[in-house]
Amino acid sequence: MPNPDFLAIGSIIIDDIVYPDGRTSMGVLGGGGTHAAYGIAFAGEKPGLVGLVGEDLPGDIRARVETDFDCAGLVWTHHPQMRGWQIFEWNGVRNEVFRVEVIEPFMYGPAADCPEVPFKRAAGITLLRAPEHVADWRARFPDAMLLWEPVRVFMLSADHEAFLRGIAHADIVSPNLHEAQTMYGIEDELEIMRRLLADGVKLAALRMGERGSLVARLGESLAHYIPAVEIADIVDQTGAGNTYCGGFLVGICRERDVAAAGCYGAAAASFTLEHVGCARLPADRDAEWERRLQEARRGLRSVLL
Ligand SMILES: Nc1ncnc2c1ncn2[C@@H]1O[C@H](COP(=O)(O)OP(=O)(O)O)[C@@H](O)[C@H]1O
Ligand SMILES: [Mg+2]
Repeated sequence: MPNPDFLAIGSIIIDDIVYPDGRTSMGVLGGGGTHAAYGIAFAGEKPGLVGLVGEDLPGDIRARVETDFDCAGLVWTHHPQMRGWQIFEWNGVRNEVFRVEVIEPFMYGPAADCPEVPFKRAAGITLLRAPEHVADWRARFPDAMLLWEPVRVFMLSADHEAFLRGIAHADIVSPNLHEAQTMYGIEDELEIMRRLLADGVKLAALRMGERGSLVARLGESLAHYIPAVEIADIVDQTGAGNTYCGGFLVGICRERDVAAAGCYGAAAASFTLEHVGCARLPADRDAEWERRLQEARRGLRSVLL
């Protein structure tokens, strides 16, 4: 079996969604790793998904991930598949209530040295992990373009020393704005971007929700504001950031340009916003992808750092 060029390493979750009006969507495919893998797929590459899954994963979901991804890097466990209530409020706040007792292995497994993950190389990987895991995955894939998406709970701990240890092993770091504000204790996104680069981030992609993203490369004088691709009816913002990361990774590997990569991220994220849980690969992906990419490119704005 050929080795996929791009890997998404992260969690796979089954969400049981409760809307503010009491409606529900049960058994929806979610999880940061899965969303990032779809980001890679929206950009036109078939990703390998690396994560821990329960042997009781519902059959329809198993069939879906096996169609859309290379699943040789999934590690099957006898623990019940990680599953949680996602309870939405009218203001968009989401409360997560896990429905299984064992969570940790799904958040952080498999380990980088796990022999059950067969992949020998990768052009690019997205890694949704805490900082102590970045060095291990770097050691396993020394030549890969490594995008580190720090997990939210870590960013909110504002442990700057640990953050620096993660940065040292990543090529790209993508926090969201609120998380980065907490980490640095500053509000202004350009100031945060300067701090990220001063801390040694080679390529930074600061995700800013409906305001789009701010991207920059260490050593260059410009930073670039990438607009969000406009979506008429935003159904669910969950996973937009993970999907952005998958798109960005493919963009930087293909185009070698940080602004272009940001546009890939925005285009990829836009698909997620239209769906509850992971978006499906649209039948007209090629055309829709081009349209959304062009829209992001048209709105690009560069500023002096
Ligand atoms: N409310 C929104 N409206 C329009 N675009 C959005 C919205 N939320 C997210 N996006 C798009 O998805 C990208 C990533 O989402 P973001 O909210 O920044 O990350 P996170 O998932 O960490 O909160 C954004 O850069 C933007 O392109
Ligand atoms: Mg958001």
